[in-house]
Amino acid sequence: MHSKSAEFQVKAKNVNTKRTSPTERFLAGLPVQVAQDFIFDCKIRPIAFQVSEETLPMKDEELLRRQFPNMKTHLLVAADEEQSGKIHNYTGKQIGVIFSGGPASGGNNVLSGILKALGRHNKLIGFENGPDGLIKGEGLLVNSRKMKELINTGGFDYLGSGRTKIDSPDKFAAVLKTVKKYNLDGIIVVGGDDSNTNAIELAEFLSQEFKTGTLDKPCTVVGVPKTIDGDLQIEIAEKKLLPISFGFYTAARVYSKTIGNLLTDASSMSKYWFIYKVMGRSASHIALEVALQTRPHITLISEEIAERKLSLSDVVSYMTSVVVNRAKKGRAYGVGVIPEGIIEFIPEMKKLINELNKLSARLMTIKKELTEAGVLTASGYLDEKSIKELEKQYDVDNILVHPRVLGLDHQVSEIDYVARETELSTRVKKDFIISARELSEQSKKLFMSLPDDIVEAMLLDRDDHGNLKVSQIPSENLLIKMMKERIKDMQHDPDRYEKSGELAFANEDEKKNFLKFKFAVQPGFLGYEGRCGAPTRFDADYSLNLGLTAGSLALGGHTGYMASIINLSDGAQPIGIPLAALIHGEERKGVVKPVIEKNLVSLDSPAFQTYVKSRDAWAKGDSSRSPGAIQYEGSLASMMPIGVALNLGIITMEELEEGMYPVYKIGQRRPIFL
Ligand code: FBP
Repeated sequence: MHSKSAEFQVKAKNVNTKRTSPTERFLAGLPVQVAQDFIFDCKIRPIAFQVSEETLPMKDEELLRRQFPNMKTHLLVAADEEQSGKIHNYTGKQIGVIFSGGPASGGNNVLSGILKALGRHNKLIGFENGPDGLIKGEGLLVNSRKMKELINTGGFDYLGSGRTKIDSPDKFAAVLKTVKKYNLDGIIVVGGDDSNTNAIELAEFLSQEFKTGTLDKPCTVVGVPKTIDGDLQIEIAEKKLLPISFGFYTAARVYSKTIGNLLTDASSMSKYWFIYKVMGRSASHIALEVALQTRPHITLISEEIAERKLSLSDVVSYMTSVVVNRAKKGRAYGVGVIPEGIIEFIPEMKKLINELNKLSARLMTIKKELTEAGVLTASGYLDEKSIKELEKQYDVDNILVHPRVLGLDHQVSEIDYVARETELSTRVKKDFIISARELSEQSKKLFMSLPDDIVEAMLLDRDDHGNLKVSQIPSENLLIKMMKERIKDMQHDPDRYEKSGELAFANEDEKKNFLKFKFAVQPGFLGYEGRCGAPTRFDADYSLNLGLTAGSLALGGHTGYMASIINLSDGAQPIGIPLAALIHGEERKGVVKPVIEKNLVSLDSPAFQTYVKSRDAWAKGDSSRSPGAIQYEGSLASMMPIGVALNLGIITMEELEEGMYPVYKIGQRRPIFL
């Protein structure tokens, strides 16, 4: 039960979130587009939602009913003005909010939108550092003065974020305590697929707590689709329910500006290849958008690699062929774009990673058991004192070579590895890993052939959701190394390659050009710099409306829903998507778990097809485009992501070719008075 004395507590956050540059001050003053549904009597208000007549098909009905029996499965659409008028009069509601996962531009506008929806008579309580803040239970009042300064600027620095998963009874109990402490009516989770999975788990838990009487009023949980990766795009039964997550377009435009500049540099100096990896943990939406924006000579799309079952060597062959064909024509330069998640999509690498994940799960168990037996400290080092005591107790010389004495069934080499992992050289780690039973012969061979920096990155701990830290894997270096070796070999023995058909010269000049070609490569990684920049106008407007939607859903008591805005080029419409409709079973840390399915690049999508139709021409010629800096005023400020617009049918490939660009229209442009 809520204690009547549970006072609302406000803690001032002491971080430097000041936005003082002339640009930031200019941005904060820019008006935003607001969907008509939110405007009553010329004022911005929350809206009520009602259940739409459409039922959505569930991905896995049985799993859903078992894991989330209290969750609703209907789509929500805006109710009439009379219903919305009631919501507008709500007072005294307290809604919590967290950012979860990596930052994405538009977060401050989400907060501003929620704040605006809640109005002056309800409170928005922010919890710092993501789910940890909810667990810790120290909230701060989201302050409208601060938001006036932060609106239209990037960064999650006001509240911070984190990747903790709320996955244990203790963590759920801690959140329950926070809900009671702050008398919360709702929690808004601004996050990606994993964070929204956490949101539905929390929604189910809190619904159950209310049902059983532990909570004396319901606490709704609402998700907001955030991630630069763009892998939260939802289409169910041919209905496009979520066009994109916020932050995607800003990141893609930040990277496109650099790639566009590099394309111009490459053709200016005619001496370098730039091979750049761009962020996006799994899906290649960002790489595809960058390709559509800039038209580089090489772009890899992980989903295509997986679909066509291309091996690492096939991928290197393709990249090398583009480089070599350009070199033959005297073009010793070019730009290649690689998606961050590529490693996990190359079938033999994926197999290796899965096997390493299984091994890592077993090693974690060993570590846990050794810690519980008192021979390891929490940080993984041997606890000499406890070991001595145990050796005395069991009368053995070296307890670590007698694990059975402790009731453990582990090999000495496993115990040694777990205990000393941080101090082992890559060579020793490799030797241990290829002796592990989880690794197949094929994976052992591949693993041994990988350079040390790749091996080390693959062995890093998985995050709380079981994800490999792909941003730490220098896959661009691996591909460059393999390309260099191949080109060197070709130049050393061109006849062999000519005979095998891998090299062909139309004339002597081509051969001469190729033989004197020097493959000078500049590698790079575009990642973190795309997550906190000032949002594009599209992201600024879109995320503000997502915030208005989320605030309205929370006020209306709709739990287990994700805010979305549809009809982006035509006035926009807020809806609530049942998170339950997005759940499917997926293996995480070796166990099948209910999670929200990531949206990967579809090879049938107009966006991918547009790229496929053009890529050979882009590879051969110099058809690059430099989209330049993000615009905040003027007609170019209304641009939206090309890939999203192609997939939604807002623009066609032919129109793009004619020089047209896609434009969004959410609603009326107005200043936001918070
Ligand atoms: P979210 O899906 O949580 O928004 O994060 C996406 C991302 O930016 C990926 O593109 C990248 O692989 C990852 O975060 C990097 O995470 P970290 O901040 O933990 O290094």
